[in-house]
Amino acid sequence: MKKNDSNIKKAIKYLNNNECIAIPTETVYGLAANAYSDKAVSRVYKLKKRPSNNPLIAHYHNLEDCKKDCEIDKTFKRLYKKFCPGPISFVLKLKKKSKISKIVSNNSDSIAIRFPSHPLTRKLLKKINYPLAAPSANISTSISPVSKQDVVDEFGPKLKFILDGGSSKIGIESTIINLIGKPHILRLGGISSKLIYKLINPLENKNKKKIRIKVPGTSKLHYSPGIPVRLNAKKNYQNEAYILIKKRKKIDKNYFYLSKKSNLKEAAKNLYRTLRIIKKNGYKKIAIEKIPNKNIGEAINDRILRASKK
Ligand code: TXA
Ligand code: MG
Repeated sequence: MKKNDSNIKKAIKYLNNNECIAIPTETVYGLAANAYSDKAVSRVYKLKKRPSNNPLIAHYHNLEDCKKDCEIDKTFKRLYKKFCPGPISFVLKLKKKSKISKIVSNNSDSIAIRFPSHPLTRKLLKKINYPLAAPSANISTSISPVSKQDVVDEFGPKLKFILDGGSSKIGIESTIINLIGKPHILRLGGISSKLIYKLINPLENKNKKKIRIKVPGTSKLHYSPGIPVRLNAKKNYQNEAYILIKKRKKIDKNYFYLSKKSNLKEAAKNLYRTLRIIKKNGYKKIAIEKIPNKNIGEAINDRILRASKK
């Protein structure tokens, strides 16, 4: 416990100095910096090699804090009450008096925000008086990290500090919902679309129009393991790593299981870790068994589909 407290102190020191650090979240590790500081957030873009037109998610401790920067409505409050802190991000209107750096929002009048549930990061957020802009802590277009070691593998000594919070429980990024205009999901993720749409009152939103919004970070090059990925594979060919949703009786050194018994939550948690292991082992090709497209399986399928695009 004491070690955690002293690490949080260290983290705050770096952040107050406009440095970026890695933080653990329940979804994936983030590369975090003071969202009110141009200098700090520029460092995130530089280190991650992220195109400047791709906005960042601002991470807050609670609803009161985010009210300083964004406009909220009934739908937001309902979703917040049910799912936060947790793996969901909201696109909201920025307030004119908000102190969010223009670099975070890519000069737009909207912003994505989220309330991560990882206890260490919540402790950290409680102790600082600014939100943290944090994209996933990987080099742009590569796989998101779900442990301290993954972050080290991405940035090496270029990153000065990683707050170690163990492995990410969910293992896949947050679901992003656009609440400007008619609510709709922009990126599938840790909370299934079904659960979210259940809480959206059609009457409350009946006069709102769907506002199309660009999500640059979901372009097809994302989540790439850097080698060809074949989906819905019924078998694997020689030297192909084979990712399976459920453990098989047959023993084969090229088999990688996402779960013992087709548990989709367990599969999501293991997905990125498994892709990294396969790459580290030097495989040149990956085949993936069909994954059921329900609950968090939707988000798994979304990510592997992108990973399979060239
Ligand atoms: O679980 C997560 O959301 C993780 C952890 C670290 O919180 N963060 C994350 O951030 O996945 P990132 O930057 O890797 O992905 C955020 C996605 C990108 O596709 C970006 O284009 C989109 O959100 N995005 C960010 N701000 C946006 C905005 N204002 N409007 C539309 N899309 C936005
Ligand atoms: Mg990312």
